[in-house]
Amino acid sequence: MKKILVCTGGGDCPGLNAVIRGIVKAAQSDNDDYEVWGSIEAFNGILKDEPEIIPLDNNAVSGIHVKGGTIIKTTNRGNPLNFPVQEEDGTWTNIDRSEELMTKIKANGFDAVINIGGDGSQKISQSLFEKGVNIIGVPKTIDNDLSATDLTFGFTTAVQIASDCFDKLVTTASSHSRVMIMEVMGRDAGWIALHTAISGGAEICLIPEIPYDLANIIEIINSRYDDGRGFVNIVIAEGAKPKHGTVTGKASGEIGDQHIKLGGVGNALRAKLDECNCVAQVRTTILGHIQRGGTPMAFDRILASAMGVKAFDLIKEGNFGQMVALQNNEITSVKIADAVKTYNHVNLDHYLLKTARSLGISFGD
Ligand code: F6P
Repeated sequence: MKKILVCTGGGDCPGLNAVIRGIVKAAQSDNDDYEVWGSIEAFNGILKDEPEIIPLDNNAVSGIHVKGGTIIKTTNRGNPLNFPVQEEDGTWTNIDRSEELMTKIKANGFDAVINIGGDGSQKISQSLFEKGVNIIGVPKTIDNDLSATDLTFGFTTAVQIASDCFDKLVTTASSHSRVMIMEVMGRDAGWIALHTAISGGAEICLIPEIPYDLANIIEIINSRYDDGRGFVNIVIAEGAKPKHGTVTGKASGEIGDQHIKLGGVGNALRAKLDECNCVAQVRTTILGHIQRGGTPMAFDRILASAMGVKAFDLIKEGNFGQMVALQNNEITSVKIADAVKTYNHVNLDHYLLKTARSLGISFGD
């Protein structure tokens, strides 16, 4: 009997359950004897004094591929290499609990670990691999910002959600002759914004990779109202920033979460437009976590299932330290070390940027 431990870490993403189901189904249909377990809230479950781990068999995963979220829960506050602990005086410090984690993995009889997560989680996977853990990574993020894979599951669903919302905002923008700003996720990569802008037909798309110039945005708005009436739909990624400016957000303040909480860039832009006596009324909609919730689209269920099955295959082959990837319409794998080396920004000569510009979408540059 071989035992596999599965974790989901970082922000949730439509398709996580389909990966879990893929791993379990592949393991159960294998002739060798495999048992799959889930650690609740990433590595936090296995690290508990009384480990919070649950057996994952065919019954446990039956039908879960159509559900959003993750049945084994997730957290962005559980890096075992930089784990927050409270001192007696109430202050918090971070400690390295990786040795303890490895002892727990061994003591509970696990032969291998599958870590499903984004950039941060895969950096943890790589560190654990270097310390001797038999680990496989599965890339996850709605932002599609992981390199080495052509796509991450969850991204397509997030784009569909954003695009559906954008369509609704277009009709109300048009009725009221307003400027509508829709803020979408995308910390450092503007993939969701770019895809939504093309799909919905935005006039303006603002992304982290291309700092915008307010004067240009005002010029475009004015030109749309030349005959007195018009409307403008803007899609803006949460990580977008003006030229010579900074991102809009603040330190999370949550123990163990080292991210800056982005959000509010849409309202900040609206305030600037109002200050400049914008020709029309401006309204902002922030989509936020709606983009991460709910049922994964068929495409994401399929990609996630294929990635789960591949993760199991890699374990069976003993090919550890690898991250599952989609490349040129094939499910393959790459070294985790290589996958986390570069970040998947919107490349300035990407064909979709050119497509968008040719469609008349401005990036405010
Ligand atoms: O990484 C995915 C992401 O959706 C980012 O775009 C966003 O900034 C972040 O997660 C928010 O995560 P949370 O609110 O869970 O901390």
